[in-house]
Amino acid sequence: MKSQDIRKAYLQFFESKGHLIVPSAPIVLKDDPTLMFNNSGMAQFKEFFLGNGTPKSPRIADTQKCLRVSGKHNDLEDVGFDTYHHTMFEMLGNWSFGDYFKKEALAWAWEFLTEVLKLDKDRLYVSVFEGNPSENVPFDQEAFDIWKQYVAEDRIILGNKKDNFWEMGDQGPCGPCSEIHIDLRTDAERAAVSGRSLVNADHPQVVEIWNNVFMEFNRKADGSLEKLPAQHVDTGMGFERLCMAMQKVTSNYDTDVFTPLIEKVEQITGLHYTSNEVKNISEEQNKINIAIRVIVDHVRAVAFAIADGQLPSNGGAGYVIRRILRRAIRYGFTFLNTKEPFIYKLVPVLADQMGEFFPEIKSQQQLVTNVIREEEASFLRTLDQGLQLLDKVVAETSGKEVKGEKVFELYDTFGFPKDLTALILKERGYTYNEADFESELQAQKARSRAASEVSTEDWSVLIPGNVETFVGYDQTENEVKITRIRKVDSKKDGVLYQIVLDNTPFYPEGGGQVGDKGTLVSANETIEIIDTKKENNLILHFAKQLPENVEANFVAQVNTDLRTATSKNHSATHLMHLALRTVLGTHVEQKGSLVNPDYLRFDFSHFAKVTDEEISKVEAFVNARIEEQLQLVEYRNLPIQEAMAKGAMALFGEKYGDTVRMIEFGDSRELCGGIHVKNTADIWHFKIISEGAVAAGIRRVEAITGEAVKKFFSQQEEMLASIKEILKNPQDTLKSVVSLQDDNAKLKKQVEQLLKEKAKGLKGELASQLQEINGVKFLAAQVDLNPEGAKDLAYELGTLGTNLFLVLATAEDDKPMLTCYISKELVAEKNLNAGAVVRELGKYIQGGGGGQPFFATAGGKNVAGIKEALAQAVSFVQ
Ligand code: ALA
Repeated sequence: MKSQDIRKAYLQFFESKGHLIVPSAPIVLKDDPTLMFNNSGMAQFKEFFLGNGTPKSPRIADTQKCLRVSGKHNDLEDVGFDTYHHTMFEMLGNWSFGDYFKKEALAWAWEFLTEVLKLDKDRLYVSVFEGNPSENVPFDQEAFDIWKQYVAEDRIILGNKKDNFWEMGDQGPCGPCSEIHIDLRTDAERAAVSGRSLVNADHPQVVEIWNNVFMEFNRKADGSLEKLPAQHVDTGMGFERLCMAMQKVTSNYDTDVFTPLIEKVEQITGLHYTSNEVKNISEEQNKINIAIRVIVDHVRAVAFAIADGQLPSNGGAGYVIRRILRRAIRYGFTFLNTKEPFIYKLVPVLADQMGEFFPEIKSQQQLVTNVIREEEASFLRTLDQGLQLLDKVVAETSGKEVKGEKVFELYDTFGFPKDLTALILKERGYTYNEADFESELQAQKARSRAASEVSTEDWSVLIPGNVETFVGYDQTENEVKITRIRKVDSKKDGVLYQIVLDNTPFYPEGGGQVGDKGTLVSANETIEIIDTKKENNLILHFAKQLPENVEANFVAQVNTDLRTATSKNHSATHLMHLALRTVLGTHVEQKGSLVNPDYLRFDFSHFAKVTDEEISKVEAFVNARIEEQLQLVEYRNLPIQEAMAKGAMALFGEKYGDTVRMIEFGDSRELCGGIHVKNTADIWHFKIISEGAVAAGIRRVEAITGEAVKKFFSQQEEMLASIKEILKNPQDTLKSVVSLQDDNAKLKKQVEQLLKEKAKGLKGELASQLQEINGVKFLAAQVDLNPEGAKDLAYELGTLGTNLFLVLATAEDDKPMLTCYISKELVAEKNLNAGAVVRELGKYIQGGGGGQPFFATAGGKNVAGIKEALAQAVSFVQ
């Protein structure tokens, strides 16, 4: 069976058992602070298990794009070395939300594997939870008894908490689980060693394929377990492993999920990948295989993350994506000898292969390709710079061991991995001090851990079972009660309280728009709300202190000044989005957005700089719609198909329900949960204040509206007035600035010419001052030039012959500067080094510097030290 058909068979089977089939949630999570990426099929359903909401159907099934590269479930470092772990993988899952339980879940799992897919029963083993008295969770007798109906008792294995009690993270829903393992070894191997003994023993051919979790508990922040309101089923089957079993191979990478990608890498590099069936391969071939596995695995993770809207960046989820891609680039660089970008060439193969089921990878193909290519090019440049730096480090090393601190510096500032550094050093006959490297690394880790430390207490629930309603589209003020409170203590923000209300007018940060600020007012006190955010289905109001009486009646009041300013920027963002698509083309897609009271920021796909003319057109387009005074038309519960039929803009990587909110201003229609003006006239005016690049093929525009535009124009006016004043109020300001520039250019040229002549004169004068010491032609002198002139002069003097040692000092604008030039022969034969000379002499001018062995400069602070520096120079030749 082809992988496509295996996936279909699974979904059809569970559809026939009354399950609703839903699409995969985006790979990047937005509203869950405990998780960066979707790490399991159940992540998108977490709130249903906790009882904070109701699913569309009590039975759901899907295939979920998962990424296990951070937090509790992290397989990154294994990927490539083994044949059955991945960064991104698909998890086939079926769920019961308070509906069926163990009996049906296990029966269907068995039926699907053995009757639909016809996997050999003789190769299957199952496990059940042995129980954990200290947590008061008993042995799972029920699951054990159910399995006894299907398999011999010696195929049922009892597992401990590590293997058979599944938890989403440090907190959240969890429960005992029952796994199904498959033994893919040959008959001879199976006869020799029983599969039972290899279950959960990291054997590459005896692997878990399906996990059935019986969600019964919630792990609280204090570590204790609490019973969930209902019992649920959460299952997850590793799609790639299932394909391995079905396609009768012994490595995930030998299935058709990966072979097309591997073939492409072979074609690009001219190297060969050997399948898992080929035994006794050379050490060299093994390294090539590992590198190829790393690359074909990682490209999937990176491509899907970008398609879901997560660009590589310097922080958060974006940084994790960048690091995954860099890991792939580095394996290519080191083991496949790829010195040019090439991973991006795998994207079309991936799109062909997976685009039918995951359309986002097809529709975002161009962007994904460009971003990966640019990331590759830039990291290869970094690797190159790192190599140069490494040359310098080696040159400065006495002995054969490079300092660990230096290797750490390369790693820290250039992302230059230590194993790569070690490899290059080894080629040159050097090693490095690993212990020092490790201690630097640990110190840095400790620093960042300390900086990001957060402790979150459990909720204290004041009014149980309440589902919070958002009333903020119609009201900015409402009577409320507090239903839950939680204390969070972080290094970054100090102690904060998160407050949940029974209903709230406060808009929680989302869709680019910042959260509302405001107050909670009771008869006796006023509490400041400094921010509002969403966590799964809850709206959290952040306060620095709690009311004394948390049970009082409060009025929640949104700060309407801020909210109004924000709404102008949000509505302007929609108009600008349409303007960009109209002026630049429909390839423009939103890639990021920030809307706050001060300005708006909008990132979008576009492959060239937006010209001044295009910017003017975009501004005119938006301002025309402001002048038209378009009324807001808000659809609160529009079926999604209807919204799409009306041409509404939707975003990739965003999860939409069956009914959506659509915001319409004339022909601008977007799916959006944000706050908007009632009429475009309220925006007053729209002005773009900057345009630039954020990543390959992604541009960023910043713009302002309303009061900010008024302020902007009056500042411009003031600036013009000051310029006029400086120019002594000329009749034509523009003309007078232009002529000033012309004059300046002329004068600059004249000065350069004069300096050149002066340097020529100096060359003759200084040549006559060269002293012969120990066979070296030596000169140390102060010259009345700028540093650039001194450099030219040094090179000029350098043409005068061999065995020269020159130190020139300048003191332009009271800034002392030393320039040292040493003829190549002296560098080679006498071991003289200009870098070392300026570092030493630089001490006299309270400065430092460096450069190459034959030429180096040092700047400093103390002009008075020049004399001594020049006097000391002679010691190097003596
Ligand atoms: N949530 C379970 C897992 O990820 C099914 O293994």
